[in-house]
Amino acid sequence: MILLTGGKGQLGSEFQKLFKRVGIEYIATGHRELDITDIDAVKNFLKEKNIDIIINCAAYNYVDRAEKEPEKCFAVNSLAPKNLALESKKIGAVFVTYSSDFVFDGGKKKPYTESDIPNPMSVYSKSKVEGEKCVFAAYDKSFVIRTSWVFGMGNNNFVKNVIKWSKAREKLELVEDQVSSPTYAKDLAEYSWELINSDKYGLYHLSNAGVASKYEEGKYILEKIGWKGELVKVNTSKFNLPARRAEYSKLSSQKAEKIIGKKMPHWKNAIDRFFKEMEEGNL
Ligand SMILES: NC(=O)c1ccc[n+]([C@@H]2O[C@H](COP(=O)([O-])OP(=O)(O)OC[C@H]3O[C@@H](n4cnc5c(N)ncnc54)[C@H](OP(=O)(O)O)[C@@H]3O)[C@@H](O)[C@H]2O)c1
Repeated sequence: MILLTGGKGQLGSEFQKLFKRVGIEYIATGHRELDITDIDAVKNFLKEKNIDIIINCAAYNYVDRAEKEPEKCFAVNSLAPKNLALESKKIGAVFVTYSSDFVFDGGKKKPYTESDIPNPMSVYSKSKVEGEKCVFAAYDKSFVIRTSWVFGMGNNNFVKNVIKWSKAREKLELVEDQVSSPTYAKDLAEYSWELINSDKYGLYHLSNAGVASKYEEGKYILEKIGWKGELVKVNTSKFNLPARRAEYSKLSSQKAEKIIGKKMPHWKNAIDRFFKEMEEGNL
């Protein structure tokens, strides 16, 4: 039996769809059913359930708000994954959790591999690095999968926001100095699942192929919907955001792709499929 924590977010929803499709038994818990920061609740929940894999999709993802509430951010992104890893060890389950391209400072300007050293620049990214370290220190049968710019049906995201903004505005400003790659939650769930089945525990990167700035991603979306407004390139500094962001954080998925035996699809192809899914009314 698989336990999906944070099972109602973007990635959690896609795991649910995948498991339903292939007929795998799972329990998905949302924040309300199981708060992963409540260790007693976690212990109680795991009793007599015969869980053999815990996939933690729960996270504190408010990158800017985290600057003002570091305790909350660290509780969800560092301490809770550590405790889940320890509980997984106790019950003999494999543990899987997720981290972010934001662990890097952007100085490299070439796709980051798993052997590159993180240099987190915000509370959120520090909490992710700490989470990674705690998990591997707690339990060797763990997967930590870093990803970037996730979009999918299950929650709000940049793709949905661009569509929403385009309906309300005639001019849009998008940043060109944040470069990484958008990642479709559906692809992330499917490729993660193949990786998990390899039993080759460790640290991995998984993001859709290709590289884009937020401006380029937005331009692609706006062209698809035939928006006639004015799109302007700006720098991140214009928005005076509380959290620092890397100018470049593209992740190389090569290590995972070698194990899985296939390449991640290009982000444009992923956005095309996401649009199809939205048109089919699954939003
Ligand atoms: N989204 C991105 O662009 C991005 C980029 C890089 C890495 N990642 C990582 O990829 C993973 C999946 O992200 P995602 O986009 O699927 O996230 P998401 O849509 O924001 O879902 C996260 C889920 O975690 C739940 N949650 C938060 N605190 C919790 C707690 N204490 N106990 C239980 N559940 C809790 C949230 O529920 P509530 O909303 O009810 O609190 C939400 O449903 C995360 O580890 C994330 O950090 C995401």
